[in-house]
Amino acid sequence: MSEKKYEKKITCIGAGYVGGPTMAMIAAKCPQYKVTVVDINKEKIKAWQTDQLPIFEPGLLEVVKSARDRNLFFSNEIDAAIDESEIIFVSVNTPTKMFGQGAGKTADLQYWEKTARDILRVAKSDKIIVEKSTLPVRTSVAMERILNANEKGIHFEVISNPEFLAEGTAVSDLESPDRVLVGSRETPPGLKARQEIVDIFANWVPAEKIITSDTWSSELSKLVANAFLAQRISSINSISALCERTEADISMVSKAIGSDRRIGAKFLNASVGFGGSCFKKDILNLVYICEYYGLPQVAEYWENVVKINQYQEERFVQNMINTMFNTIAGKRVALFGFAFKANTGDTRESPAIFITRKLVEEQADVVITDPQALSNAKEDLADIIQKVTLEPDPYKAALGAHAIAIITEWEEYKGLDYTKIFNVMEKPAFVFDGRNILQHKQIFDIGFNVYPIGKPGLSHL
Ligand code: UDX
Ligand code: ADP
Repeated sequence: MSEKKYEKKITCIGAGYVGGPTMAMIAAKCPQYKVTVVDINKEKIKAWQTDQLPIFEPGLLEVVKSARDRNLFFSNEIDAAIDESEIIFVSVNTPTKMFGQGAGKTADLQYWEKTARDILRVAKSDKIIVEKSTLPVRTSVAMERILNANEKGIHFEVISNPEFLAEGTAVSDLESPDRVLVGSRETPPGLKARQEIVDIFANWVPAEKIITSDTWSSELSKLVANAFLAQRISSINSISALCERTEADISMVSKAIGSDRRIGAKFLNASVGFGGSCFKKDILNLVYICEYYGLPQVAEYWENVVKINQYQEERFVQNMINTMFNTIAGKRVALFGFAFKANTGDTRESPAIFITRKLVEEQADVVITDPQALSNAKEDLADIIQKVTLEPDPYKAALGAHAIAIITEWEEYKGLDYTKIFNVMEKPAFVFDGRNILQHKQIFDIGFNVYPIGKPGLSHL
């Protein structure tokens, strides 16, 4: 297709977990648009141009390949891409701010602001700017101010289009989303820009699933959706602690309450704790906003979701230490999984990071295995890397270990030969199942002492 035949030209700034898959899906579904994804990271862009994509996401390579070099392009030429596009998605990272006002809670907007300034410097015509990154409520207003304070006579309309994809299922989440949310100002140019964005998704998403709103409600909805999801996990995890003290079984409790249609069955798996780039960050953003608007009780309510998560991670390690006769110094402990969930190599906020550090502090000899996340683990643990071993093969990781701890619910860990593993471990051999994915009675019958989450332990001792 020659350049001018494209119906729309779209650029996305930021080729990460959100920008890459989202733009690949738009390009695959809309061959009439030219979609260019740019990033300051040259290595990342290079990887998007090969079959070794920079992120592991089931089914993504096929989607990318269906559109790449047809109407999907990955480039470092940020200025050129901004210049030629009428629609610019911004999906740069917005980590939690670690300094100054709001440190540890609010989002660090320096990447977003730099992007806004790049757009301002380069743009020669009116543009629609779409927020994809998760941002604190009312950021779009600040961005609009920066952008529209130009002397070139150019008008920018800032739209909020939060991303609800979950890692590991990004492709199906993008292909058939529960909803797409598009927020804008409710002025004539705002509504016109909103419609332009709605039109993109209407190429494959049914009209009734495209929800439109004012910008602030859209921004806030993203934070609240994640806060509600994380709250379910913290709620069930808090009850798992109670189950461990009593004879109740958390899986039964989850099943019993989840079959109430008003509650629903999803996100009730007790675990070692939630991770990922969004949950903690978004809740802390919400907490900060509540504090800012003088609502300390509301802030405290949501902050407890994060506190219970931290408690769950601490409890897990404490339980390991207590069970292994109150000392793990010099004992080899194999962590099965380092990613924050299965089917991703992402380790951001993974409970594995805290658990590894705590075990190393107790002078355990930690060996980590994971099918996708070892290179990220190496970076996360850079300062203590000489004290841990990274081993792609779980059987080798278990060799000579006193304990195995399941941290990530990788399917392949369910089907390992645990008799073979038991035979090469030190005795007594322990399994701490932080995801409740193993057949505990079977594992116990092999000879392991088994400690699940939220159920009584099975011990030969
Ligand atoms: C989340 C939201 O689901 C998504 O809509 C948003 O766009 C980004 O944040 P993600 O972080 O990719 O997605 O993964 P998610 O599937 O939500 O899992 C988050 C964490 O919760 C993982 O560590 C997962 O293992 C944990 N979890 C999930 C549980 O511990 N128990 C559950 O029942 C479900
Ligand atoms: P997310 O999970 O939100 O997609 P990632 O960290 O995976 O977050 O991706 C964000 C991407 O944005 C990174 O690849 C980073 O290099 C890129 N980025 C950050 N700032 C800029 C910028 N000013 N211009 C272009 N790309 C940027």
